[in-house]
Amino acid sequence: MNVILRRFECLPSTNDYAKEQRALGRDMAVLADRQSGGKGTKGRSFSSELGGLYLTLLRFYPNLPASRAFTVMTTAAAAVCKTLEDIGLTPKIKWPNDVYVGGKKICGILIENTFSGNRVRCSIVGIGLNIFNELPQELQDIATSVFKQTGKRYDVDELAQKLLGYLYDENTAKAYFSYLGWIGEPIMILQDDKRIFARLHSVDNQGNLVAQIDGEERRFSAAEISLRINIDKEKTDEND
Ligand code: BTN
Repeated sequence: MNVILRRFECLPSTNDYAKEQRALGRDMAVLADRQSGGKGTKGRSFSSELGGLYLTLLRFYPNLPASRAFTVMTTAAAAVCKTLEDIGLTPKIKWPNDVYVGGKKICGILIENTFSGNRVRCSIVGIGLNIFNELPQELQDIATSVFKQTGKRYDVDELAQKLLGYLYDENTAKAYFSYLGWIGEPIMILQDDKRIFARLHSVDNQGNLVAQIDGEERRFSAAEISLRINIDKEKTDEND
């Protein structure tokens, strides 16, 4: 792995910076100590205080069919899991690409792909991993950090290097399914203003969630739904 790394004390968003660099046509990693306008999925903001890892990898692909764009996501989520496993943690992926440790979210990933015809030209893979950053009050019950899980203040740069190594390792994507959590468990699917109680069956090769609803399998793309986990079991059994 031999990628240019640009490091900043503060950026509005490492994803937005990487987007501006696309015209250069070469891979680049962008790391910021903090972000003043960190972006999350579905238009949300992402808290990005000092002590967290805010990394975006701009990566070009010579020949990645659009039908395999899902591998960008599987690689990113599995790379985070491998990095966390190396420091003794037990991570789980909440479909499509949130990473959890101890039942709380430790990392979010925002992927923005650029297509050219039926190929992925390049991807912007933004990773926000809580290391020893303070978590805002409203996230205390649902988010965690490496520090909260290990009691140690890991060096952000060292973890970023490890993560980049896994992002460039062609074997990383395969591990996605072994980290996938909540298989067979009750879930709630939010689709527009509908709440659908279901059971998580699997994830297919296109990256769609396969859910079991009233004994039938249904597939959903990440763009059309949000997934809620740790759902009251009785509510799902009513629908079994
Ligand atoms: C989410 O969980 O909603 C996704 C969060 C993604 C956050 C990362 S931090 C680095 C990169 N820059 C951003 O503005 N967002 C991503």
